[in-house]
Amino acid sequence: MSHPIIFDTDPGVDDAQAIAIALRHPELELLGLTTTYGNVDVETATHNALLLAELAGREVPVAQGAAAPLVKARHPPPAHIHGANGLGDIALPPVEGKADSRSAPQFIVDTLNARPGEVTLVAVGPVGNLAAALQLDPAITGKVKRVVIMGGSIREGGNVTPVAEANMFNDPDAAARVLTAGWPLTLVGLDVTHRCVLTGEHMARIEAGQGALGKVLAGSYDFYRDFYREFLGIDGCCPHDSCALAWLLRPELFTTGRGHLSVATSGDAEGQTIFAPEGRGFIEARWSHTPLVEVCLGVDGEAVSDWIADTLA
Ligand code: RIB
Ligand code: CA
Repeated sequence: MSHPIIFDTDPGVDDAQAIAIALRHPELELLGLTTTYGNVDVETATHNALLLAELAGREVPVAQGAAAPLVKARHPPPAHIHGANGLGDIALPPVEGKADSRSAPQFIVDTLNARPGEVTLVAVGPVGNLAAALQLDPAITGKVKRVVIMGGSIREGGNVTPVAEANMFNDPDAAARVLTAGWPLTLVGLDVTHRCVLTGEHMARIEAGQGALGKVLAGSYDFYRDFYREFLGIDGCCPHDSCALAWLLRPELFTTGRGHLSVATSGDAEGQTIFAPEGRGFIEARWSHTPLVEVCLGVDGEAVSDWIADTLA
């Protein structure tokens, strides 16, 4: 079965790995890439999305989106993690293509309306484009097949604050709207992405299998891996964004739960995703008022990492 997807992204080293899967996997029909600031500014994100598609020899629409969060001031991009160019500061070939004339939110709205009930929206950056699409056309909640978001944390704690994951922290106001919009939604957060490690051996296989695209994936991986080694003591990197696609195509590798999500938008907990399991009573009902969603709680991390390498090798 083929899954038509829109892939919303801030490439970014781990985004690039996931984009490669979206471009190459035979069970995915990539309808378009939509870009957002996050790991890089949005112009760089668009440039990198165009480049990765060109390196794969694919013509895929790339629509540029959010340049900043909805409400809060934008944090500087994490150049020490992804490089100033988002791809590990390696030298990159020139890009020939141009972005779609539509904005990312308009592209999302048009695409969901053109194929109601068919398209899965996979988002792996700050979710401002999804919030803006909801504002443009609230009826898309009933047109999307599913929304899969790499972001948040249920029990794992945060990666940019003690409690917040980066994509949620970068635009908590957008996240609060998107996670409670009432569309079918699965959250793939740090509880599972931190269990997956893409090793040097995995990347060597990917480099060998992906030609010019493989050179960029491997070169940027080396930079990203240095960050993981220095700051987290891991030999390899967490392929966060690829996990969203792994959930879509290999859900049997994950365990999930159902419940209600909310997002803290200010204060020390800014960007924290708060999960109230379905049917569980708390001292007040307010945490259980939001629509039911699915969250990932566990994963066979080795199998997901191998799946990524096998897909791209
Ligand atoms: O927290 C992990 C997320 O933040 C990933 O999407 C990664 O690309 C970074 O943006
Ligand atoms: Ca990302």
